[in-house]
Amino acid sequence: PLVSTRQIVDEARGKGVGVGAFNVITLEHAEAIVAGAEQAGAPVILQISENAVKFHGGRLTPIASAAAAVARLATVPVSLHLDHVEDTALLHQAADAGLSSVMFDASKLDYEANVAATRAAAEWAHERDLYLEAELGEVGGKDGAHAPGVRTDPGEAAAYVAATGVDALAVAVGSSHAMTTRTAKLDHGLIADLQAAVPVPLVLHGSSGVADDELRSAVAAGIVKVNIGTILNVAFTSAVRDTLRDPDLVDPRKYLKPARTEMSAVVQRLLTVLTSNGVG
Ligand code: G3H
Ligand code: ZN
Repeated sequence: PLVSTRQIVDEARGKGVGVGAFNVITLEHAEAIVAGAEQAGAPVILQISENAVKFHGGRLTPIASAAAAVARLATVPVSLHLDHVEDTALLHQAADAGLSSVMFDASKLDYEANVAATRAAAEWAHERDLYLEAELGEVGGKDGAHAPGVRTDPGEAAAYVAATGVDALAVAVGSSHAMTTRTAKLDHGLIADLQAAVPVPLVLHGSSGVADDELRSAVAAGIVKVNIGTILNVAFTSAVRDTLRDPDLVDPRKYLKPARTEMSAVVQRLLTVLTSNGVG
C-alpha cells in the first residue's frame, strides 16, 4: 500500500534499521524497486528528483501518478518522496501530486540563506502535512565534481534543525553523489555525533558509492534513510547494453525486462543489508 514517508522512517528508526529510498526515473524503475522490496519483505521509499521531473519535460504528475499506482498495488509499505528540490514552484506541486515528503535542497546556499529558505519551505510543507527533509553541508557530486571531503558540523546541525523545524536531515559524512564504485569511506564517529546532536532522523545521500559493510555501520551509528540512485542505473543500463548486442532486436520489452529484473535484484540485496542489524 501507499503510506507516508513519516510512517516508514519512524518505524525504521524505532527498529534500529535503515530504509532504502531509491530514485525513480521511469515506470520500470518504480516497478523494479517495488518488486525488490517485496522480495526483501521490506518497506521502501520511491523518490522522484527535480532532475527526473526535468527529464519528463518539467511535469511531475505523469511519473508521480505512475509511481503512486505501483505503490498502491504493493504488498509492502511504499511511500513517495520528491528529491533534491531547489525550485520552490516544484515544491508547491508536491502535495497535489500525491507525495508525502519532500527534500528541499538549499545546501548550495550559505548557512544563513539556507536556514531562511528551508524554514519557509518547512512552514509551507507542515501546513499541508508534508514531511520535509533538508541538507546541511553539501554532499556534492550532483554536478559531476565529487566532494567527499565536506562534512556537516554537529553543533551547526543542531542549531539548523532548531531554526528550520525540518523533519529529517541529510548530512555530509563522506559520501558523494553519482559514484559508480563503492569506495566511499564514511566518518562513523561523525554520524554518531550528529545523531546525538539532532533530534530528527539522519539521511545519507550518494549511497551508491558506499559498500555493504559501510552501510551497515552507518545505520548502526544513526543513519535512517539511505538514498540510492546510481547503482540501480549501473545494473539497468548494463543489462540493456548486453541485450542490445543483438542487432535484430526491436521490441523495447526485450531489453527493458532483463534490465528491470537486474534492478530489482540490486534493490532486494541492498534492502537486506539495510535491515539486517535491527533490534526487532
Ligand atoms: O538523492 C539521491 C541520492 O543521494 C542518490 O545518490 O545516485 O549517488 O546513489 P546516488
Ligand atoms: Zn541526493
